[in-house]
Amino acid sequence: MKIEGLTAKELKEIAEKVVTVSTAVGVKLLRRQRKLSDLKISTKEAQGVVSNADVEAENFLIKNLKPLIEEAEFLAEESAFKTYGSKKDALKKYKEKKFVWIIDPLDGTTNYLNNMDYFGVCICLAYYGEPVLGIVHRPATNETYCAIKGKGAFLFNTHGKKTRLKLVTNKKRLKDSLLVTGFACEKGEVFNKEFSIFKNMMKKSRGIRRMGSAALDICLVSQGIFDSFWERGLSPWDVAAASLILEESGGVVTNYNGRAFHPFQETIVGSNESIHKQVLAVIKS
Ligand code: IPD
Repeated sequence: MKIEGLTAKELKEIAEKVVTVSTAVGVKLLRRQRKLSDLKISTKEAQGVVSNADVEAENFLIKNLKPLIEEAEFLAEESAFKTYGSKKDALKKYKEKKFVWIIDPLDGTTNYLNNMDYFGVCICLAYYGEPVLGIVHRPATNETYCAIKGKGAFLFNTHGKKTRLKLVTNKKRLKDSLLVTGFACEKGEVFNKEFSIFKNMMKKSRGIRRMGSAALDICLVSQGIFDSFWERGLSPWDVAAASLILEESGGVVTNYNGRAFHPFQETIVGSNESIHKQVLAVIKS
């Protein structure tokens, strides 16, 4: 893919710097998590919680990513609404911009605030709304998932060893698959629909996990640990980086209708190709 104003070499160099920044923010989050009682917790616009650890991490990311591409703007979980008033307006604006850093300093805030180790730092560079660089860092294990559009996906383990993520397509069936999902906090009809999908999927698969960080869930699909992930109502910062990682590892990412996915959509299904159609069929049923 040709990116106007950025060579492949420059993008690779940026990716390396972003990996370092994500690791640094992870260290800060872990340090803060050791003293949970010191954190100030409040509710955010979309139902859910936010702490000053999220806000500090976001400010750190913005400060360190800004010099990498001067003209890039930021769509960041804890500040996007403030700039544009509402989530809807913010998303409309950012979708059309040339370069946007879509960032979630802490995906899995509820886990984090309950002292669980399943949370991640998500950083995506989007070019006219399309992810071209995606990084998800898991502070607790010091693992980093990284993908560049068209160049594959990689995992850096705790010792910095780099492994290519390459999913194999086989004849696996849904009934032998382990799935993962989440529930964004909708109410009423949509919420009931999600539960009925959950029930149907439970009957048709080997099992389902609800872990609490959509970004890490999707990365674990790209590692072959889970076979598929689906959720309605997520925001671009939860899925932008991870969806590119899954696509670049050979997985398939669409919306609930099977159409090509982009981070500004309402629904997401990401799977090993072997079972993607079977998962979509259950969602539609
Ligand atoms: C949440 C997590 C969770 C998903 C929620 C998200 P946050 O992100 O990704 O898995 O089910 O919909 O809001 O709020 O903890 O950053």
